[in-house]
Amino acid sequence: MRLHVIGAGKVGRSLAKAYRASGGKVGYLVNRTLVRAEESVRSVGAGVPLVFDDLKTPKFDGILAITVTDREIESTAKLLENCDITRVSFVFHASGYADSRILRGLCKPYASVHPIFAFGRVVEPRELQGVYYDISGDEKGLEYASNFVRALRGVPLPVDERGKKVLHLAAVIVSNFGLTLMSQAERLCHTAGIDVGDQFLKLVYSTLANVEKVGVKNAATGPVVRGDWAVVKAERELLRELDPDFVDLYDKLVEMTRREFCAECA
Ligand SMILES: NC(=O)c1ccc[n+]([C@@H]2O[C@H](COP(=O)([O-])OP(=O)(O)OC[C@H]3O[C@@H](n4cnc5c(N)ncnc54)[C@H](OP(=O)(O)O)[C@@H]3O)[C@@H](O)[C@H]2O)c1
Repeated sequence: MRLHVIGAGKVGRSLAKAYRASGGKVGYLVNRTLVRAEESVRSVGAGVPLVFDDLKTPKFDGILAITVTDREIESTAKLLENCDITRVSFVFHASGYADSRILRGLCKPYASVHPIFAFGRVVEPRELQGVYYDISGDEKGLEYASNFVRALRGVPLPVDERGKKVLHLAAVIVSNFGLTLMSQAERLCHTAGIDVGDQFLKLVYSTLANVEKVGVKNAATGPVVRGDWAVVKAERELLRELDPDFVDLYDKLVEMTRREFCAECA
């Protein structure tokens, strides 16, 4: 079945590449400008460039992947209602938050197919092996969604519409906010003239390796977990000098870390 990508950005291009690597055919790759659409074709290594303004021209078939930004999904679905989609078998969007039912108006099996993965760039198909995708939708849509995810060598994870929102919130906390803290930590080092290079990358890798080996609950280290309160207090004072706005969050994180991981403090 052919895959058409409406909004060929990081996720759209990555999924198209992986689908192609699995032996699937890639059809139209749709962007706002022809330059971007041609770039999409080069990036995926297949497909036909198309712009949103020409969406009514082709006869779509197979699978429609709507991978525009979340705020544009509904309006894009409305646009597609006026296109020739009679031969389309399945339509999905990739948002972790948006309800799958916003695609109901297209009168096709529908689903939300959300990769639990950070696409900071277009990724290679092998990087998507074993990735979980939460899926929700109508009965037929879920069947198509599972087959699509398995074709990409991923793992489908059926969830209800509320469950997917909770999962997305949790994913934002662990992935996006983890990065915010990393960037903040690098900035603190810069105030002391220290270039961290890839030190923190290695530090975070070591933390993740511990999580992999012994699980989150047993992987925690650091002064709060050890109950070294003099260090925690002294570092709070240092932070107050360097970045007073950060102190409230520091206090909150110390308290949460204490509750989660400090067995002696319970
Ligand atoms: N990034 C992630 O880590 C991630 C993970 C899981 C799921 N998702 C979901 O995947 C979807 C796409 O995210 P992404 O990270 O791939 O975003 P992206 O790289 O910014 O790509 C967004 C695509 O939407 C198009 N677009 C943007 N504004 C538009 C508008 N006003 N009208 C029509 N098209 C517009 C862009 O077209 P041009 O290329 O022409 O600008 C681009 O092709 C979202 O629903 C997101 O929630 C993202």
